[in-house]
Amino acid sequence: MQIVLIEGDGIGPEVTQAACRVIAAAGVQVEWIKGMAGAAAAERYGEPLPEQTLEMIRRYRIALKGPCTTPVGHGYRSVNVRLRQGLDLFASVRPVRTLPGIATPYEQVDLIVVRENTEGLYAGLEHEVTPGVVESVRLITRPAAERIVRFAFDLARQMGRRKVSFCHKADVMRLADGLFLECARRVAEDYPFIQFEEIPIDTLCMELVLEPRRFDVLVMENLFGDVVSDLAAGLVGGLGVVPGANYGTRYAVFEAVHGSAPDIAGRGIANPIAVIRSAALMLEYIGYRQEAQRIEQAVLATLKAGIGLTPDLGGDGTTMTLTEQIIHHLHAG
Ligand code: NAI
Ligand code: MG
Repeated sequence: MQIVLIEGDGIGPEVTQAACRVIAAAGVQVEWIKGMAGAAAAERYGEPLPEQTLEMIRRYRIALKGPCTTPVGHGYRSVNVRLRQGLDLFASVRPVRTLPGIATPYEQVDLIVVRENTEGLYAGLEHEVTPGVVESVRLITRPAAERIVRFAFDLARQMGRRKVSFCHKADVMRLADGLFLECARRVAEDYPFIQFEEIPIDTLCMELVLEPRRFDVLVMENLFGDVVSDLAAGLVGGLGVVPGANYGTRYAVFEAVHGSAPDIAGRGIANPIAVIRSAALMLEYIGYRQEAQRIEQAVLATLKAGIGLTPDLGGDGTTMTLTEQIIHHLHAG
């Protein structure tokens, strides 16, 4: 099977290599088609997201991706934003679940953040009106709003979830979030068997920190989703452990929530779990359900055993020792 691999920048190559090793250890044979994106691509092609990388994903349909640094100050637009827009990967999904062996103030957190990936404040519509005055457009369209809320409800139904919370700021952004809210209500009517809740984004943040267990599936606009997914990651052990997926109707790109972590890049201490779990989501998506579950179980067993963990999890291990522990548990399980 052929899958596109984008190693990315910073800790990207370290953690994606770890994921490739774990996939191989789970017995799935993959021919990785390497595509470039990020700072390395900018250096080589003068373009952080070369068209041939997009073409590659269009051809093979599925990609596993490491984080990409967007070079600042060159007039580049974010690689990630353009990748999601260019492939119409309209839904970002981040499952956030309490993990064994990680000390946090919370227990039994089990929620899914669904983020609209193509519009909102990240639509990229920014311009300078006059020097000292800029405008950023918060684009909301009915088709995109309805499609992301429908996606969230369908996901809830498939995964046996009870509730979808639509997060917004419609009292202030009356037109933009007013339209989004109206679309959400309309779509919710088609799913009377799933509870629907409307919650202001600021209230959501407070309640997530107070009582995260009361949430199930959360759906929201692009910028809100970016912020809330990092916040939610913090409830269960941080960016090093939370996986992610970007889905469109034709393509899917699997990647961790975290970025290229320049502060720890090249030191061999990045936590590979987020990318390994993203790879498990990918295997599940392409039909290797059993292998995906075995990888997830191996990650849980490794965390429970607490050996070889990376510094972000309080251990003194490395990317390598943690990966080896996961492979060990994969073979033992
Ligand atoms: P970041 O997520 O890279 O790092 C934030 C903090 O979390 C840092 O202290 C870092 O060391 C830590 N961290 C992140 N991942 C970790 C891991 N796997 N193991 C252990 N510690 C980890 O966010 P930051 O620093 O704001 O962004 C750095 C670059 O990454 C920027 O250029 C940004 O644009 C890019 N980025 C790319 C993303 C993507 O490609 N999907 C997503 C987020 C940011
Ligand atoms: Mg982010």
